[in-house]
Amino acid sequence: MMDDMDFWKRRRVLVTGGAGFLGSNLCHALAAAGARVTALDAMLPDGGANPANLEGAGVLLVRGDIRDTELLSLCQGTEVLFNMAAQTSHMGGQRDPVADIAINAVAQVRLIQVMREAAPTARVVHASTRQFYGRPIALPVDELHPVNPPDANGVSKWAGEQYWMLENRVLGRPVVSLRLTNCYGPRLRIADARQTFLGIWIRRLLEGEPFEVWGGAQLRDLAYVDDVTQAFLTAAEQADAPGVAGRVFNLGGAPPVSLLELAELCIAANGGRGSFSTREFPADRAPIDIGSYHANDSAFRAATGWAPRVPLPEGLRRSLDWYRERLPDYAPKA
Ligand SMILES: NC(=O)c1ccc[n+]([C@@H]2O[C@H](COP(=O)([O-])OP(=O)(O)OC[C@H]3O[C@@H](n4cnc5c(N)ncnc54)[C@H](O)[C@@H]3O)[C@@H](O)[C@H]2O)c1
Repeated sequence: MMDDMDFWKRRRVLVTGGAGFLGSNLCHALAAAGARVTALDAMLPDGGANPANLEGAGVLLVRGDIRDTELLSLCQGTEVLFNMAAQTSHMGGQRDPVADIAINAVAQVRLIQVMREAAPTARVVHASTRQFYGRPIALPVDELHPVNPPDANGVSKWAGEQYWMLENRVLGRPVVSLRLTNCYGPRLRIADARQTFLGIWIRRLLEGEPFEVWGGAQLRDLAYVDDVTQAFLTAAEQADAPGVAGRVFNLGGAPPVSLLELAELCIAANGGRGSFSTREFPADRAPIDIGSYHANDSAFRAATGWAPRVPLPEGLRRSLDWYRERLPDYAPKA
């Protein structure tokens, strides 16, 4: 087993989307492990970007957009690329699929071409999504499940992933793609429900307001962000190993719970304080809803030895505690 700290010491790492939820958590972990980290982020207003996310991280934040920023000097010398930048809104992708594909596919190809020139041997871990499996045919979902994107965002994310996988197949670059389930934890956007329903639940709980559960029977296997960060680090450390290089892996989290069970767990994690109401799934979202999902991520576990460590009640408690002190930065009053 490789010594993680030695692997990362002085390693030159580029994190696209580094001021967002998952990217910033990775930046903190990488810098703490001794890596030299550059975070590239366009600070788009509708996603998870937040300047507070990188406070105290000790990384260089470059404000730039992968669609048009000069990337060559930024990528030069990169040894590991964590590729987290994306248009992540499902409704946003439906409204403007051209803008969606411009980031999630066209700009990915742009980045790929620059990386060929600037950092031809760098490892790449790409943040992919369970979204493009669509409404699961059977649960749990493994990597052989058909790809049936339910929305434009699913199509663009699938295309982006496949362009990166070609870099492995055609050129032999060590690339790993992680198809993530719903992730949660510190540095998530909680101002509203744009990043995930759980964001607004957390905000409402901390503000002492009721929150809404849409539907309620849907199953989710939420992944706590520290476990997700560890999965990305592990994937990068082993990206050139046989059985890991060039593979796409599902990444799940805690054992599945229904949204109603999750709502109760949130209230328990908030010391028993809080309440919620249930309502029908809104008509404009119902056609792109995927229903229940939980991942079979045994392939990633077997290939790398990774396993999630943070149980759901503990992760919810940690998340609420973290935001309690930081509401002005993450949920400013209008
Ligand atoms: N959070 C989850 O539950 C989840 C689930 C599945 C997949 N993912 C994937 O993980 C990755 C990170 O997601 P996240 O939850 O941290 O989202 P996020 O919105 O918090 O982070 C994405 C970051 O990318 C930046 N960005 C977007 N377009 C950019 C561009 N053109 N140039 C530069 N920066 C740009 C945004 O400003 C944002 O800070 C995404 O690729 C997403 O599709 C996340």
